Amino acid sequence: MLEDIEEILIDGKAIQTRVKELGEEISRRYENKDLLLVCILKGGIMFMADLSRCITIPCEFDFMAVTSYGEATESSGVVRILKDLDKSIQNRHVLIIEDVVDTGLTLKYLVKNLENRRPASLKVCSLLNKKAHRKADVKIDFVGFDIPDKFVIGYGLDYAGKYRNLPFISVLKPKIYTTC
Ligand code: IMP
Ligand code: MG
Repeated sequence: MLEDIEEILIDGKAIQTRVKELGEEISRRYENKDLLLVCILKGGIMFMADLSRCITIPCEFDFMAVTSYGEATESSGVVRILKDLDKSIQNRHVLIIEDVVDTGLTLKYLVKNLENRRPASLKVCSLLNKKAHRKADVKIDFVGFDIPDKFVIGYGLDYAGKYRNLPFISVLKPKIYTTC
């Protein structure tokens, strides 16, 4: 697996340091509020698991899965819900946990969809923010790292379903996805 990696962009230690800061910030911001973390599967899973353990106030989990890229590395712009939330979010303070916001098309769809369910508040926390190809005007309330316009893998992020288990954020060697 390591031979497929071009460079490590953010190592595991830097991720954990930033995740802890975000957890503290979120805990302060939602103090005395009934917080519901909504993890966007599958990419958000590592971030959700680590971030939630750095949140010091009570919170609940729910999960949603949407399609974005399929097996390509560019957004199709087509978003479809594969798995919906288990419970109503009406009057709940909802925080969306995303792995990366790239074009913003997925997030725009998600925010619109969840806003229609009348939560008490709806905010977004994304580990990574890739601004270069932004197509939709979306607000990200908590950002882990701004990253350059590169296709990244690891710490939940995949290419064709693989590499999610890498403990760092890295750049895939271009030949992997230009020749297949
Ligand atoms: P967007 O709709 O273009 O903002 O893309 C959102 C989704 O595409 C993310 O939640 C990821 O699942 C996926 N994605 C975007 N960029 C990357 C990347 O660099 N590596 C892996 N997945 C990505
Ligand atoms: Mg995602």
